[in-house]
Amino acid sequence: MISTDLHLLFSNIRKEFPALTQKAYGKDLVYLDSAATTLKPQSVIDRMTQFYSYETGNVHRGAHFIADKATQAFENARMRTAQFLGAESADEIIFVRGTTEGINLVAQTYGKMNLKAGDEILLTEMEHHANIVPWQMIAEQTGAKILAVGLLENGELDLNDFKLKLSSKTKIFAFTACSNVLGTNNDMKFLTALAHQAGAKVLIDGAQIVSQAPINVKDLDCDFFVFSAHKLFGPFGLGVVYGKKSILESLPPYQGGGSMISKVTFEKTTYNDIPYRFEAGTPHVAGAVGLHSAIDFVERLGFKNIHAFESELLSKATSSLLQIPGLKIFGTSATKGPMVSFNIQGAHHSDLSQIIDQEGVAVRAGHHCTQPLMAKLGVQGTVRASFSVYNNTDDIEHLVKAVEKAREMLL
Ligand code: ALA
Repeated sequence: MISTDLHLLFSNIRKEFPALTQKAYGKDLVYLDSAATTLKPQSVIDRMTQFYSYETGNVHRGAHFIADKATQAFENARMRTAQFLGAESADEIIFVRGTTEGINLVAQTYGKMNLKAGDEILLTEMEHHANIVPWQMIAEQTGAKILAVGLLENGELDLNDFKLKLSSKTKIFAFTACSNVLGTNNDMKFLTALAHQAGAKVLIDGAQIVSQAPINVKDLDCDFFVFSAHKLFGPFGLGVVYGKKSILESLPPYQGGGSMISKVTFEKTTYNDIPYRFEAGTPHVAGAVGLHSAIDFVERLGFKNIHAFESELLSKATSSLLQIPGLKIFGTSATKGPMVSFNIQGAHHSDLSQIIDQEGVAVRAGHHCTQPLMAKLGVQGTVRASFSVYNNTDDIEHLVKAVEKAREMLL
């Protein structure tokens, strides 16, 4: 059991999320879809409003008062993000649209430059499409081959299979820190060290982990780490690629346009230094500023507190849902993240989620952009409830009642 102080801290935090003051179908909204996107605290909303109200000059171009303010806010956000990830310098932080664009960037720069026929890209069977399709595209362009590490019954990675598939042919190992379906948390440091021993570079998809646990890319020693601001209480449309400086410096640009150049003539263009080489066009400045504020929010709460609180919610949800006859949970690793994916025998996941939604409880249903994983599990889709800092035990009770009701209506 966690302390009363911690309960008080999180019940106060809940008040910082305006979205939770609304009703859904006349019932109090219960938001259990944080793995898809987290709600936004007032501090992030206010910071972005302030930015749009008073600081909307364009970055790196203007020689005037508000352009300077915008540039300063944008570069401060880069520094704050570098600090949040434990990167060596702000040059190692590239702002993109999201995790998906981040992985495409790495595939189309590092992958394009370094992969050739016969090379292998190692993934895992729990990857989101965002960490599969960009690699398939570059594999088609270069002749490299995709392999995927298998899973154990409880949804953890099969380490024997990993060791079997990892070889001197493996040029890139790209894996999720936390499965968006199973909740499985992978041992990032251990997997990175093994991949490096085989000579592979490592990309970590941090989309689900950034709101759950502190990250230190230097300690992990990963080559690339990507995440999206919107899953960290921040805005949509802003993502981050961390890359080791020595690697980023060796890479060609991702897209062409303004800001990423050093000199342009019709005969030849030379490119800017990192990270600007990878940021063609006007960036999502307000997004970066919002991310800065989101990082402040999450660090104010503290990952130790977040972990203790979310683990309690997860354990309550798991034991309560398992009381429902015919309910099966996918992903039972003891160290999993705060989400539960489930099905009820004889009921379709979409029908279940529709009834659950009518009860005011927001969950996600479908294949969760992980069709290979669904095929592996032998299902078309699942219902997923995911928990965050603004949930509480009442939310879990609402969920369980809604699932029970759905079951009664459908069976
Ligand atoms: N990747 C997000 C999810 O799992 C959208 O819901």
